[in-house]
Amino acid sequence: QFTPRVFSGMQPSGGLTLGNYLGALKRYVEMQDTGTYETIYCMVDLHAITVWQDPTELAAKTRELAAAYIAAGVDPAKSILINQSQVPEHAQLAWIFNTVARMGWMQRMTQFKDKAGKNAQNASLGLFAYPALMAADILIYHATHVPVGDDQKQHLELTRDIATKFNHDYGVDFFPITEPVIEGAATRVMSLRDGSKKMSKSDASDASRINMTDDADTIAQKIRKAKTDPDALPSEYKGLDDRPEARNLVNIYAALADISVDQVLADHGGAQFGTFKPALAELAVAKLSPIASEMTRLMADVAEIDKLLAQGAEQAREITQPILKRTYEIVGM
Ligand code: ADP
Ligand code: NA
Repeated sequence: QFTPRVFSGMQPSGGLTLGNYLGALKRYVEMQDTGTYETIYCMVDLHAITVWQDPTELAAKTRELAAAYIAAGVDPAKSILINQSQVPEHAQLAWIFNTVARMGWMQRMTQFKDKAGKNAQNASLGLFAYPALMAADILIYHATHVPVGDDQKQHLELTRDIATKFNHDYGVDFFPITEPVIEGAATRVMSLRDGSKKMSKSDASDASRINMTDDADTIAQKIRKAKTDPDALPSEYKGLDDRPEARNLVNIYAALADISVDQVLADHGGAQFGTFKPALAELAVAKLSPIASEMTRLMADVAEIDKLLAQGAEQAREITQPILKRTYEIVGM
């Protein structure tokens, strides 16, 4: 009964990593290009400010993220591209969901615990309520599918819980039970320095990640210095058990090349990292460099980006306004 519709988004809170690209952005483009779904992609600035953001930088980073989306292949003629704060129904529905979600649900969220750290009493209330806003981002479109990295699984479950409880409390079948789409070899890209941690833009060490805007030499150097073990690559996947750093590099290769992990091992099994790493670096540069230069080109015309986002917001509101209106009616408002 629901239109197949994809929603996803990223925070404009700093440089994008290879993890963001393979786990999210590349998937956005793939889902857009299947032609099976209406696709809506968002810069979630309201989420970004749950931790302090310098106002001038926030505006710049939001445009930079829009440029990254477009450079990676999100096409404003095929997808609706928006900045969250320009579509006010996200925040309006989030308030309703703040009354549906339970304190205990929020307290179980591992991302809040990670981001708030030891001093949780001093975290913003918005950081705690973040998953209710995320549920609203998705459900204000009645989105049926959400492509995300593995770290967002728990938030997607909470989105489903909120939809279920709303439908149950008000005796309606109004919000869909959204499916997370967490597929492929790179749902969790790991740090280059520590195979037990995810690659993240907030890691203190820049050597732990590949940034989408790193130049070719930097990418090659980071991959050359990536932590590995002394063994050669195995020819079967189970040979990567207990070798998290090796597995991570193989997964990255497969995702970048759009081939299976088995294929990577068929091609490179028996090779030492001394030969595999340069091949991986060459592949990463071939995929990322064109995106980085396209981003630079797009960033030179900020007015054009602003125009696209204004158009996106208008298109989005054709969907969000009727859904908010109906939600208010259901609630008795
Ligand atoms: P970050 O997690 O880098 O702060 P966001 O929270 O804005 O960035 O996440 C944007 C998207 O990128 C989400 O779908 C998230 O799951 C995905 N993502 C982030 N890091 C990784 C990673 N290391 N591997 C795979 N996907 C990732
Ligand atoms: Na994340």
